[in-house]
Amino acid sequence: MINLCGADKEWVKETLEKAKNKIAFSTRQMGVRLPFTTIDGVYDDQYTTQKGWWTNGFYAGILWKMYNETKDNFYLETARGVQKLLDDAIFEFKELHHDVGFMWLLSSVADYRITGDEAAKQRGLLAASLLAARFNVKGGYLRAWNHNPGWSIIDSMMNVNLLYWGSENLDDKRFAAIANLHADKTAQCAVRCDGSVKHIIEYDTETGEEIQSHGGQGFGVGSSWTRGQAWAIYGFVLSYLHTGNISYLETAKKVAHYFIANITDDYIPVVDFRAPKEPVIKDSSAGVIAACGLIEIAKAVDENESGLYLEAAIKILRATAEKCADFTEENQQLLNYGTGAYHQEDSHHMSLIYGDYYFLEALIKLGGNDMLFW
Ligand code: GLY
Repeated sequence: MINLCGADKEWVKETLEKAKNKIAFSTRQMGVRLPFTTIDGVYDDQYTTQKGWWTNGFYAGILWKMYNETKDNFYLETARGVQKLLDDAIFEFKELHHDVGFMWLLSSVADYRITGDEAAKQRGLLAASLLAARFNVKGGYLRAWNHNPGWSIIDSMMNVNLLYWGSENLDDKRFAAIANLHADKTAQCAVRCDGSVKHIIEYDTETGEEIQSHGGQGFGVGSSWTRGQAWAIYGFVLSYLHTGNISYLETAKKVAHYFIANITDDYIPVVDFRAPKEPVIKDSSAGVIAACGLIEIAKAVDENESGLYLEAAIKILRATAEKCADFTEENQQLLNYGTGAYHQEDSHHMSLIYGDYYFLEALIKLGGNDMLFW
């Protein structure tokens, strides 16, 4: 557990309170829906357009975090309503992808972890089985989307947590074995020697040999998409926590060192560390995801090592609160300045439901609550 003192402790207490008040306001306006971004300060609803969209679990995650903090039944009932909407997505099986981890860990699995609800557990296990079925046995990796069987992406380091949970809850080691094989392959092929990370790796589907990489949501081939770096930091430290395999912690630290060395002085990440200096495009979501991972690394390493990671996380979160957060009741989003993808201009500097989620998660961690949904 993180034990802050002095000004940081006071700052976390105040900021967490402001974040919870803001979420209490927004969620009561929003009710049951599958939000992704705000339009004129009001969260949209992906239910009719994209039931299987990868971000559709984050709102439930926010609601379960709030329920865990407050025990207010409004959050439980709303989260269960959101989970009913997600049930439709699980049966649109052909549309599903590797991001079932993001979608069901934060909804049904969080429900089961907190309430012990058996139906929620069943849905989580079904989602874990769907993810396990995406494993390419010859190639040793989890397939990302459905259009290209050779593509695997760094983001899946967060999805493998569903397999670790599935392994424990089905008492079946094959799920964790798949997660470990995927993590090993990703550490070997996606993480470069300097700690920077590729977004998309294309493998030969028959041999598992790396054919090439793609820039994906970052600037281009050879670049360093910051949210991808953040998925790697958080994903690898979580794999360490699930397995005790020290090589995963070392990989998380290596990417963290690269991230800390490259973040700009304002502590709000640009969307790609290797993009041209202009235009300046920020991504607040990369910062808050990285902060969650840095806090977990700080908890996992020796006391004399942890300061580097904890101080970086606090700097990012303080900067995010000051420059990107909206604690008012004028808009529903908690964070601004998220970015979907470098080359997609209409996704620059927008609100993103996962930015809100990870900001809340990081503040709760610093407040001393160690419960992980991952
Ligand atoms: N998982 C996709 C993204 O980070 O945008």
